[in-house]
Amino acid sequence: MTEPVLAARGLTKSFGALRACDEVSVDLRPGEIHAIIGPNGAGKSTLIAQICGALAPDSGTVHFLGRDVTRETTRTRARMGLGRTFQISALAMQDTVLQNVLLGALGRAGRPWQFLRPVLRDSTLRDRAEAALARTGLTEMAATRTADLSHGQRRQLEVAVALTLEPRAFVMDEPMAGLGAEGSKRLTGFLDELRAEAPILLVEHDMDAVFALADRISVLVYGRVIATGTVEEIRGDREVQIAYLGETP
Ligand SMILES: Nc1ncnc2c1ncn2[C@@H]1O[C@H](COP(=O)(O)OP(=O)(O)OP(=O)(O)O)[C@@H](O)[C@H]1O
Ligand SMILES: [Mg+2]
Repeated sequence: MTEPVLAARGLTKSFGALRACDEVSVDLRPGEIHAIIGPNGAGKSTLIAQICGALAPDSGTVHFLGRDVTRETTRTRARMGLGRTFQISALAMQDTVLQNVLLGALGRAGRPWQFLRPVLRDSTLRDRAEAALARTGLTEMAATRTADLSHGQRRQLEVAVALTLEPRAFVMDEPMAGLGAEGSKRLTGFLDELRAEAPILLVEHDMDAVFALADRISVLVYGRVIATGTVEEIRGDREVQIAYLGETP
């Protein structure tokens, strides 16, 4: 079997008495979309935060590109090529679309934001930023203030920011949230293309998107993975239907 690009093993994280993640193991293989689904409060974002380095696990490990990154910072992981989008937007609202994308590209170049001026003249970074905007259909909006974008455009911008890192893997926390049917459909098509570039670990409540995209699905309930399988396997799993898909026993 191919080596996973990203592998979480036995991740455990408690907040006081609450075990938000309990021995969670998930991995991401080349070329795949692996969806993580589960009810509100199941621990999905807590899992993502540990994988990206925003939260230190109590125990367990994270390997990325064959390297143990459990103790590495988010910045180091980003520079290694772990591209991420957030459940709650992390965009700088007062900055323009292009500035936000450049900020993303800087994550890789490792220079702080206050050196933006020389960076704006750095043609490699600018090219990378402009390519990311073109791919997400935001070229026309480059000079627009991020606060003036629609919700859907902001979601696209988050993907553009992640793209500037030229990621080896994507980790996305509810990218479809609040997009509406049309926006979700468009983003679904885009993620489908993106998987050829880098595999995607996708936390998502939009089941149409999940069933359309996922090669594998893991179901998280009360901090534990209760099932991992293909779309067909998960749809046919009684325990999953009861715990998450809202069916009565
Ligand atoms: N920093 C924190 N301090 C205390 N409790 C927290 C913290 N972060 C998360 N929790 C709790 O941990 C549990 C898991 O939260 P998490 O945000 O990971 O769930 P989720 O699956 O992402 O939910 P949603 O689908 O609503 O985004 C919840 O009960 C939440 O209240
Ligand atoms: Mg969440």
